Amino acid sequence: MITFSAPVSGDVLMRPVVVEDAEALSRALLRNREYLRPWDPPRDEDYFTAAGQRTRLHDQLVQAETGRMAPWVLVSGDEIVGALALTNIVRLHLQSANLGYWVDAAMAGRGLASAATLLACRAAESELGLHRVEAGAAATNTASQRVLAKCGFERIGTATGLLFLDGAWQNHVLYQKLLNDRPPRTD
Ligand SMILES: CC(C)(COP(=O)(O)OP(=O)(O)OC[C@H]1O[C@@H](n2cnc3c(N)ncnc32)[C@H](O)[C@@H]1OP(=O)(O)O)[C@@H](O)C(=O)NCCC(=O)NCCS
Repeated sequence: MITFSAPVSGDVLMRPVVVEDAEALSRALLRNREYLRPWDPPRDEDYFTAAGQRTRLHDQLVQAETGRMAPWVLVSGDEIVGALALTNIVRLHLQSANLGYWVDAAMAGRGLASAATLLACRAAESELGLHRVEAGAAATNTASQRVLAKCGFERIGTATGLLFLDGAWQNHVLYQKLLNDRPPRTD
């Protein structure tokens, strides 16, 4: 289970999710429903409720306990203003994970996603001992592509029709960041 926490910027803190985040998370997702819609898979109504988020967070924490993902929230006071996660953590000779993130519309453009991405990469290396982080952004998501470029990710290609977003299979630009050249951990 990931333990990495850190200040991001101003009063915003990045810390691992807990089930008790469900209510604040459902408020944040409702607040940002239209903002996130173009970049999110289709969501049912339950997703925007505290109960739906409790179930989702429980599933995430089971995956976190078994080392398959590392989920964080960005918090400002009692409110959640974003989230990011390393998913699909694969060990052996890959030592790799996928990064995803979102930031509250009211907080966008202040460098939060970039700062949090750098922190997630630091945690991926120092706490998880990973070698590589991969991220994809829809070809039309210039803000997300900018975040990845600013954080030192290299563009490695385009995946045609990778994800079903906003009613269509969307092309994605793929990026990776190599964290170190150490041999894989054996624990
Ligand atoms: C993408 C997202 C996470 C960026 O969060 P953020 O905190 O605003 O990111 P930052 O402030 O760290 O950096 C954003 C960069 O994109 C740039 N940007 C923002 N909108 C842009 C646009 N429409 N076109 C080009 N660049 C844009 C900003 O100017 C900034 O670059 P700069 O520092 O060189 O000026 C946020 O917009 C978001 O949550 N979007 C919806 C969900 C999403 O797209 N998630 C990622 C899925 S791959």
